[in-house]
Amino acid sequence: MFHYHQPVMIAEVVQYLITDPQGVYVDATVGGGGHAKAILEKASPQAVLIGIDRDQEAIETASQVLAEFGTRVKLIQGSFSRIAEILIQEKIKTIHGILFDLGVSSRQLDAPERGFSFSQDGPLDMRMDRTQKIDACQVVNSFSEKELADIFFYYGEERKSRKIARSIVLARQRKPIMTTGELEKIIWDCHPGRRGGIHPATRVFMALRIYVNQELDELPKALASIVQYMKEGARLVILSYHSLEDRIVKNFFRNHDQLEVITRKPIIPSQQEIQSNPRARSAKMRVAQKLLREEGTPA
Ligand SMILES: C[S@@+](CC[C@H](N)C(=O)[O-])C[C@H]1O[C@@H](n2cnc3c(N)ncnc32)[C@H](O)[C@@H]1O
Repeated sequence: MFHYHQPVMIAEVVQYLITDPQGVYVDATVGGGGHAKAILEKASPQAVLIGIDRDQEAIETASQVLAEFGTRVKLIQGSFSRIAEILIQEKIKTIHGILFDLGVSSRQLDAPERGFSFSQDGPLDMRMDRTQKIDACQVVNSFSEKELADIFFYYGEERKSRKIARSIVLARQRKPIMTTGELEKIIWDCHPGRRGGIHPATRVFMALRIYVNQELDELPKALASIVQYMKEGARLVILSYHSLEDRIVKNFFRNHDQLEVITRKPIIPSQQEIQSNPRARSAKMRVAQKLLREEGTPA
């Protein structure tokens, strides 16, 4: 049914997000439109949805998937860190719920020409927004050995970060590293064998993707600007797939004086869901709600 991307914890997302069936909802990572469709189906025909994604291909797919909802949907290509600007542009003053389903879609991972994955050879790209200047090829071929090692260690929690960075620098002195297959081979040769069933290039590829797309900067920027647009009682639902992202979300929820944490512990997918969609296995969902103001307190 979902060729582009199988939405994770779809029932839970809808259940936690919708507090007002006639509300204005934002899907900040609309992807293939799977979550957005479920939200619109569950809400009443008066509800509207703004879908954002920085990948043009995702916007094109979502516009087909959500075509049946007509003017109830507005899709915008852009980074969610620009959320305040987008809401102003759309003349939206308050929203009733916002969803972030972080990371990459299956479509992005599975398309060899996007260069996110080493399972099939493709150009070393990894840009979600293909108009962006810097791509993985530039990072791998022009960053210093120390910069590469730091990226692998910090974003990928890769223990062999220095050794892998050294091998990359030696390899690129012979010839630039242009494809995902070439990079995968360099990492494998430097550090052969799977660890716990995981290919040694997995963490390096994830780290490069996070760096190229500045994923850990995007999220705090979006969070810092969104709460002021949330109506009292509105929900902020975030699905994350990486411990560093989950930590950003947890701390943001905990320290924000206008948010009440709804999920004291993150919600994780059922075993049944993981079996049918193994990519859901690292998902963690956290939910917060904008506090209801007590009578007599200033807005
Ligand atoms: C896990 S997928 C979302 C899938 C979607 N929930 C669905 O049901 O199909 C994540 C999407 O977020 C987009 N994305 C990631 N970071 C973004 C950012 N900073 N701004 C806008 N979109 C972003 C990616 O391009 C990708 O399409």
